[in-house]
Amino acid sequence: MREERLISSQLVAGDEAEVSLRPQRLEDYIGQKRVKENLSIFISAARERGNSMDHVLLSGPPGLGKTTLATIIANEMGKTIRKTSGPAIERPGDLAAILSNLEAGEVLFIDEIHRLNRSVEEIMYPAMEDFTIDIVIGKGPAARTLCLDLPPFTLIGATTRPGLLSSPLRDRFGINERLDFYEEEDLSQIIIRSASILGIKVDRSGAQEIARRSRGTPRVANRLLRRVSDFALVKGDGSISYEMAGLALGKLEIDQYGLDNVDRMILQAIIVKFGGGPVGLETLAAAVSEENDTITDVYEPYLLKLGFIQKTPRGRIATEHAYRHLGYTMPGSSFKAPGLFD
Ligand SMILES: Nc1ncnc2c1ncn2[C@@H]1O[C@H](COP(=O)(O)OP(=O)(O)O)[C@@H](O)[C@H]1O
Ligand SMILES: [Mg+2]
Repeated sequence: MREERLISSQLVAGDEAEVSLRPQRLEDYIGQKRVKENLSIFISAARERGNSMDHVLLSGPPGLGKTTLATIIANEMGKTIRKTSGPAIERPGDLAAILSNLEAGEVLFIDEIHRLNRSVEEIMYPAMEDFTIDIVIGKGPAARTLCLDLPPFTLIGATTRPGLLSSPLRDRFGINERLDFYEEEDLSQIIIRSASILGIKVDRSGAQEIARRSRGTPRVANRLLRRVSDFALVKGDGSISYEMAGLALGKLEIDQYGLDNVDRMILQAIIVKFGGGPVGLETLAAAVSEENDTITDVYEPYLLKLGFIQKTPRGRIATEHAYRHLGYTMPGSSFKAPGLFD
């Protein structure tokens, strides 16, 4: 495996296990067929031309495999990847230092690129476009601008919120790929692969049951696999069957749709506290004691995908689907007795 030089590492507890589960090559990356096909063409073309690949923007909700893909791209190009994140680069000088230390063809990965501050972003424009940076030396009337050439490099930006990127920055990415929630079948495969790496015994129906409740997200699937495996060790013989998966996920309060307590609290708040909505983001976040960003990045995308909530110009509303899932009847429900109008 290629050495990863970390510019700033923000490992969270539990991430170490995640790293070992990360596929290293494109062929081991499960699902996201369209994204994979596109990237494989761009990688082959760049290799054939013998130059660095165009800058890549990867967007999508957390845990879908953006960081994994960035590493894979570097591996496939046979280049080192250097990782940092938007909030870690505080001043223009920090970015200038990172950029001027890159070697030809290297990959610079900036996670949460929508959180780069403006003055840093402005250094990025000529760096991305012409591989140059302007450095200001001195202060006041004596200040001079020095233009430095950079070796060609590939910037890979990852973001959960592509809409927050300024358009000059967004326009400088030649490749723009959006990751979507995974199909159950792909998640099943990911679970079976992870189980074999971790030495966990899981049968097909057990994997499917975990997949079904993993909110379309590989990171969630891997986390649930570990938790269910704990249950299987203590309450059974260690192997994960359909029944064991169901039992464990029930104890973890993950429901049939993969919703957890916070998801249900959000739906409950919209329905009960705010009469079904519309309710603004801040009000809703305060009602469930979560950060605004956590609601928009982590919870909302999946509730929207399930069709449990909708976004309107005046705020979020709960759909009839959500009412029924939580056991409420929607006031003025459009549910009609069969045969009434036909
Ligand atoms: N397509 C995939 N195939 C197999 N495992 C995946 C895939 N995508 C993500 N994973 C797993 O999910 C975890 C989270 O992925 P990551 O790249 O960190 O997500 P993101 O950067 O989008 O938040 C990784 O550790 C990896 O094990
Ligand atoms: Mg990531």
